[in-house]
Amino acid sequence: MDTRLGHRRFDWQIMKSFRIYGILGPFGAGEVIGLDLERDANDESSRERLRSELAMRGVVCVRFNAPLDDAQMRLLVRMIGPIKDPVARTRDGGTVRYSEERQVIDAGFVMTDEVKKKLGDTSVGGDDLRPGLFQFFHTDDSYTEAPAYATVLHARQLPPSGGGDTCFIDMRAAFRQLDEALKWRLIGLRAVHAYNNRGAFPPRPPAKGPLEAMIEVSHPIVRQHPHVDGVGALYFDLDRATHIEDMDETDGRALLQALQDHAEQNAPRYEHKWMPNDVLIWDNASVQHRASGDFPVGEPRRFWRYMVEGPRPVLFEWPEFEHRD
Ligand code: SIN
Repeated sequence: MDTRLGHRRFDWQIMKSFRIYGILGPFGAGEVIGLDLERDANDESSRERLRSELAMRGVVCVRFNAPLDDAQMRLLVRMIGPIKDPVARTRDGGTVRYSEERQVIDAGFVMTDEVKKKLGDTSVGGDDLRPGLFQFFHTDDSYTEAPAYATVLHARQLPPSGGGDTCFIDMRAAFRQLDEALKWRLIGLRAVHAYNNRGAFPPRPPAKGPLEAMIEVSHPIVRQHPHVDGVGALYFDLDRATHIEDMDETDGRALLQALQDHAEQNAPRYEHKWMPNDVLIWDNASVQHRASGDFPVGEPRRFWRYMVEGPRPVLFEWPEFEHRD
């Protein structure tokens, strides 16, 4: 029902749903206000709205006035898609659980010498001192065959001193910005990813431990967006990549590092300043992210983290009209 009040048109359908605002800046992240899980979680048009905003914007923050419990978080995550069960195949033909459906990450946890001794040679990568803090740009879950399409992070405790933003770069724009010859050179190349890339890209520390049993996987360097035709993005993760298939190892690593440097220098950025209870959702096919460690060591920065199932990445299909001879 449309009602006119003076010259202003009110769309009651929209009034009954949440509002989405673009966050100012070149990146174009979105902010969702007024999402009501009881009303919206199982409403297909609300789900579709949230999914398409995420696919278009790459990052969407849903604001809440109070913390969500696990059941509420699951309702919200399922608005985007099925929750990923983090289980991967191993080289010996078995499987391994590499995380939990709800993972708790806390940068307030500090690796004392005692903890280091207990863990021996096991490391999750990330930060040596604060293993819950991943300060290099990366995309989640790239060391699996079908990496999570989206990651959903819910703020439980933020550093009392402030800071600890999550920063994003737009890997679709990073691809578009390349010159045509380089775009064509990249299409068809695949980067191999492993749980432990043995420090292939210093100073990024490698992850080590029993999860190294997972199989290696390879993904196209220019990835077709799973839900938006004609959109491609640079796709690789220097925390996990080992080399480019069928290319000299040194040359392949130099190419990946140059692409990463280009993306970090030139692609649009969004710095998310956390507010209590925020739920931040990002599209791993379109963006890379990193945490900021600019808060005192030992202060809590605690999140619940869920992943949304994704398809195997496929090679970017260049739209017909852009084909070159
Ligand atoms: C992550 O790297 O998945 C978490 C991001 C953050 O801690 O800000």
